[in-house]
Amino acid sequence: MDGVGWGIVGYGWVARDYMEPGIRAAGHRLVAVCDPNPDSRAAAEGAGARSHADLAGLITEPDVEAVYVATPNHLHRGAVEALAAAGKAVLCEKPMAATLVDAEAIVRAVEAHNIFYGTAFDQRHHPAHRAIRAQVETGRLGIVTAVRIVYACWLGRDWSEAGQPNWRIDAAQAGGGALMDLAPHGLDLVEFLIGEPITTIAALTQTRAQDYAVDDGALLIGRTAGGALASLHVAYNCPDALPRRRLEVVGTKGMLVAENTMGQTAGGALVFIDGASGRPDPLAFDPESSPFTEQVRAFGSALRRPEERAAWSAARDLHTMRLVARAYGQG
Ligand SMILES: NC(=O)c1ccc[n+]([C@@H]2O[C@H](COP(=O)([O-])OP(=O)(O)OC[C@H]3O[C@@H](n4cnc5c(N)ncnc54)[C@H](O)[C@@H]3O)[C@@H](O)[C@H]2O)c1
Repeated sequence: MDGVGWGIVGYGWVARDYMEPGIRAAGHRLVAVCDPNPDSRAAAEGAGARSHADLAGLITEPDVEAVYVATPNHLHRGAVEALAAAGKAVLCEKPMAATLVDAEAIVRAVEAHNIFYGTAFDQRHHPAHRAIRAQVETGRLGIVTAVRIVYACWLGRDWSEAGQPNWRIDAAQAGGGALMDLAPHGLDLVEFLIGEPITTIAALTQTRAQDYAVDDGALLIGRTAGGALASLHVAYNCPDALPRRRLEVVGTKGMLVAENTMGQTAGGALVFIDGASGRPDPLAFDPESSPFTEQVRAFGSALRRPEERAAWSAARDLHTMRLVARAYGQG
């Protein structure tokens, strides 16, 4: 496939450290970025891209076929609405938006302009997670009864990557705390792994160890329409040196345990534990390819082949935002 020409809106941490390398590794091209911050624009130019201070400049770039939106959450809506009106394909970072109202507006814009849209749930594309889905589909686990996820980190008040301000602890910009930032990955992943969306959800949040107002931890419990249970522990108050990225899919014939696969990087470990013998059977997957590289490949492939676009769904992503709102006791 000829490489897709990408634009990026918001060239901060995730764009620089994960998306730009993913675009390169997939054999695509980063054509241009837009970012009001001169340091971010300089970083983009250092990566060989043209840079614009505003979105209008990026939109006029004829070689930009697909645009990745990676601004702070409250700015997703405005960017996606403008890009949709310009007819660009959009891959927008999670959470879809800082509020459910903004996420609904995004879906309206996508539908009104009939653009190809995906929310950047990169965890769907981690090779280990694809392997889990394949194992579930073969029936090796028997009846899947539960998915258990731990996805946590330490995010103090002064946390900063790529020299950016810590907007994550500001409810107006982020839409919430650890639950808003980290839980969407797991909520979406449950549907991807076992093919059943969560339909019922409850959660408890805490603001316990950090000195800011948004939640620094949450426990969520969910159930799919078919009766599988899900639990998610997400946190900003877990030291990074502790075990903090774990995914288990439990079935009547065995379980799969993935360690250190949740997150932006390649690698981790995956093992099947047999339900009869208790014997562990390590499973191989591509340890080199990051979820971002695979996400770029999948989005680019669907851009070229519309028949693959069914794997991307703004309506499904809006459902995930509804679950997040319900978990916060809203909606
Ligand atoms: N999928 C993942 O694993 C993952 C990881 C990290 C971040 N994210 C998501 O990516 C998004 C960005 O997060 P981050 O940590 O990279 O943030 P960041 O603060 O590091 O970078 C944000 C960038 O957006 C720029 N920006 C601000 N206003 C803008 C505007 N109006 N137009 C264009 N650019 C603007 C900033 O100058 C900055 O360069 C968030 O939605 C976050 O939730 C996802």
